[in-house]
Amino acid sequence: MTSPADAHDADAQRAFDDLIANERRIEPRDWMPEAYRKTLIRQISQHAHSEIIGMQPEGNWITRAPSLKRKAILIAKVQDEAGHGLYLYSAAQTLGITRDEMTDQLIDGRARYSSIFNYPTPTWADMGAIGWLVDGAAICNQVPLCRASYGPYARAMVRICKEESFHQRQGFEILLALMQGSPEQRVMAQDAVDRWYWPSLAMFGPPDDQSPNSAQSMAWKIKRFSNDELRRRFVGMLVPQAEALGVTLPDPDLRYDADQGVTAMGEIDWDDFFAVLRGDGPCNAERIQRRRTAHEEGAWVREAAAAYAAKQAAPRTEAA
Ligand code: ACO
Repeated sequence: MTSPADAHDADAQRAFDDLIANERRIEPRDWMPEAYRKTLIRQISQHAHSEIIGMQPEGNWITRAPSLKRKAILIAKVQDEAGHGLYLYSAAQTLGITRDEMTDQLIDGRARYSSIFNYPTPTWADMGAIGWLVDGAAICNQVPLCRASYGPYARAMVRICKEESFHQRQGFEILLALMQGSPEQRVMAQDAVDRWYWPSLAMFGPPDDQSPNSAQSMAWKIKRFSNDELRRRFVGMLVPQAEALGVTLPDPDLRYDADQGVTAMGEIDWDDFFAVLRGDGPCNAERIQRRRTAHEEGAWVREAAAAYAAKQAAPRTEAA
């Protein structure tokens, strides 16, 4: 016999399935399957952590930017990444996880963040390559997320994508200035492209046949395209842009047909990708340690903010 609770769950599941099938948004007040909630918490919190950890590789160059204008732009960009992290933590909180829990998962090393932020930034040209390649890959992956089925995530992504598009252009412009500069500057720009190209392709995630989450996330319309589809689309966008810059993409197997897009490309070093995911990348330990230290050093700010909030919330007579 069906119990009233079972009947309610079946009705709620039907309502959820209808919303998804009709391209409507799931909102925090709506019933959702537990696995959908968990998947969103996983993806959105990983995304938020990536934005926050992603401030470090570029933060490394704020004090050494080559001009006041470049410094101001870089500060604004790194600050935007902090803002993206905050929108995303807020979106994840609507699913019933707290900011403290997410932060603990990150600094304890239990949470993932994007593989791409575990590589070093030894030269100024890395600021250009990160903007052009890393933020370019982020846009390619994230524009479809503006249509994700979960309302708070999709809405956060709209603003994030607008800002990422500015980031991508500023990176392109840094590389363009270097490519129009001295022979040493051109070598520096090409070297940065050589180092960031493959990790930026790996950012899209493992190949489709090794991506355990894609099928379900696509059925729920969280992801709209597979990892390989987005990767291929990204490379197709890069080819004419590389030509305009005058840089070479470091893939001798790349075949590009302007009408059909990318027809062939070389193999990504997946061993390197999975090593970074296990925590064995060139900068994993440094990134987490830096985040942990910042968290500890910020304890007094959180305590002061909590004390101020408690004071504001206290009844007026008591405050008087
Ligand atoms: N870095 C670290 N971990 C990754 C990466 C990556 N580049 N790609 C995949 N993984 C992890 C997944 O998180 C998953 O691990 P988990 O199950 O323990 O969580 C595992 O590898 C298998 O991958 P998939 O099954 O393909 O996982 P998923 O369907 O979540 O797809 C993707 C991964 C494409 C990154 C997806 O989560 C996504 O689109 N996220 C939102 C965008 C984002 O987080 N971007 C980060 C960069 S932000 C920036 O550039 C500023």
